[in-house]
Amino acid sequence: MNRLALFLGAALLPLATAAQAETVSSPDGRIKVTVDADGEGIPYYEVTRDGVPIIAKSNLGFSFTDADPMRRNFEVVGFREQASNSTWEQPWGEQQWVIDSHNELTVTFREKDDTPRQITVRMRVFDDGIGFRTEFPDSVEQPVYRISDELTEFNIAGDGTAWSIPAGDWNRYEYLYAKTPISALSTVHTPVTMVLANGTHLSFHEAALVDYAGMWLRRVDGTRLRAQLAPSPRGPKVIREGAFTTPWRTIQISSNAKGLFESDIILNLNEPNKLGDVSWFTPHKYIGIWWGMHLDIESWASGEKHGATTENAKKYIDFAAEHGFRGVLIEGWNVGWDGNWFGNGREFSFTEAYPDFDIAELARYAEEKGVKIIGHHETGGNIKVYEEQLEDAMAFYQSLGIDAVKSGYVADAGGVIAPYGEGGMGETFVWHDGQEMVRHHLKVVKEAAEHQIAMNPHEPIKDTGLRRTYPNWVSREGARGAEYDAWAVPKNDPGHVPELIFTRLLSGPMDYTPGVFSLEGRGATAPDLPSTLARQLAFYVTIYSPIQMVADLPENLVKYPRALDFVKRVPADWAESMLVDGKVGEYAVIARRDRNTLNWYVGAVTDEAERNVSVPLSFLDPGKSYAATIWRDGANADGQGEDRHAMEVESRTVTSDQTLDLRIAPAGGFAIEFVPQG
Ligand code: NOJ
Ligand code: CA
Repeated sequence: MNRLALFLGAALLPLATAAQAETVSSPDGRIKVTVDADGEGIPYYEVTRDGVPIIAKSNLGFSFTDADPMRRNFEVVGFREQASNSTWEQPWGEQQWVIDSHNELTVTFREKDDTPRQITVRMRVFDDGIGFRTEFPDSVEQPVYRISDELTEFNIAGDGTAWSIPAGDWNRYEYLYAKTPISALSTVHTPVTMVLANGTHLSFHEAALVDYAGMWLRRVDGTRLRAQLAPSPRGPKVIREGAFTTPWRTIQISSNAKGLFESDIILNLNEPNKLGDVSWFTPHKYIGIWWGMHLDIESWASGEKHGATTENAKKYIDFAAEHGFRGVLIEGWNVGWDGNWFGNGREFSFTEAYPDFDIAELARYAEEKGVKIIGHHETGGNIKVYEEQLEDAMAFYQSLGIDAVKSGYVADAGGVIAPYGEGGMGETFVWHDGQEMVRHHLKVVKEAAEHQIAMNPHEPIKDTGLRRTYPNWVSREGARGAEYDAWAVPKNDPGHVPELIFTRLLSGPMDYTPGVFSLEGRGATAPDLPSTLARQLAFYVTIYSPIQMVADLPENLVKYPRALDFVKRVPADWAESMLVDGKVGEYAVIARRDRNTLNWYVGAVTDEAERNVSVPLSFLDPGKSYAATIWRDGANADGQGEDRHAMEVESRTVTSDQTLDLRIAPAGGFAIEFVPQG
């Protein structure tokens, strides 16, 4: 703890007491952050770990469309340090209890000017990273802040390897990851993950993105990145009236991949639950009238191929009831899918069914069978139409006993149709991650909460940990999911999931929609998924989501009873989660303990490389023996070869002092269940 700890809880102190730069350390003392203004009055921060620079001097600031930038000519007029240590409980999650231990430094900067403006930078330092945000006061000088961009820098102290997807491109977050030197990045989305030459692991993201634009990172020179806010057609990228705070800019810092995987700083930087009791949401697995459309053997649109018919839905409900899956997602049941809905959405009705779909009868049938229909709101990227119907749409589903809704925003980036201006007059195009959409998603989540409905948006705004504050925001897409294995060229390559685990998934749950047992996508040429069957099972442990799809057609699922058996057994809610072994972008072995039993589950995935991994079972309770069932790649299995379905299912009795040595096939994986005995 540094000298500032002496001022714990004290009021703002005048600069006169602080001749040196303001610094704050992590609780374990390893990470040190300085926040100060330099000789030109430029606010900046820098970060070291064990005395080694991680983030070299990085400027902080903002530019505005109608005011001088806040960039230089500032002085520190006050600072305060506080320590905090608490534990809180997640209603559902990858772990039940979360520890929040950090030291905080707030530094107030004032402009050296006749009409000085003031901002406060709040810096929180955890053992596994930092988060900081800027707090703008209510100000006579600037009653409305019209931000043209944020000038926050991340000046990485050395080169290394980065895993990133491009920002500002048409396909939103749905890209394969590029592995490049940090010094070769262009403009990227967050989370962007890096391994420096000295082995330090970093991941850059943001927390609590509320009423602000999403942040991209643009490399300006060398290894220096700068925030670039998602655009808005209004001119300013962010418009805020009166006092407000920016989202937290986060840097997860660790010596290894395990530290990144197990970091909770994004959740910790969000506000506590505002919804109270959300026990009406139950983590679950679901099937759906879905993969058939992606294979193009069924359609969302009405007509011959229409997937969402009463008869077909009953078959799915029967299947879910028989196999113990709680949910049945039904897409394409509502009017509006005929014709050109992509990037349009003008025809969608969220309460009117196609004539061959009797939604009231199906709600009754589902209830009788103990199954829940999962609603669907595809907007075609038209939030004007959606918001006009939002309340009715949610009330309608609630009246049918539907408590989970998947939504969708299929439109090119920058092509979401929004009501223009305050009065809802006309239309304008906005970005999926601009301030307008950040507002929209929260509006939908709040409306859904009023109706006890859990939300799972596709083509969403990125996850910034808001599930802590609004726990009905249970999952989302926001990356390339299994749908790409149905129709894309190229499909998700074997490295994609090991990349997701250490990038996108650091931000929160993903509705990847795994479970394609057939390992076949659409079409005559190259339909094969680069995956073994065991890998599809591994996804249920390695990709966290409190709602997990079992994506394949029911007739395919039953062809693989041993695989189906695992998916029926694996939970979707966890007491704890850990990375047993792994390397960013290459492989991951993940262990999780069920929230409702004492069972443990392990999942592992690799890229195109075959691997032999050792799994020390030290996470199991010592002194107990466990019945372990292992679903693993067969001896000749190869996720890119002929033997993709070759799978061994093996039973053993094990204890915590043992280690399992297992082979993973190229593009393969394994899944293990451990049940305590006696
Ligand atoms: C894209 C989503 O990711 C997919 O899951 C959905 O089926 C289609 N949009 C249609 O809404
Ligand atoms: Ca999608």
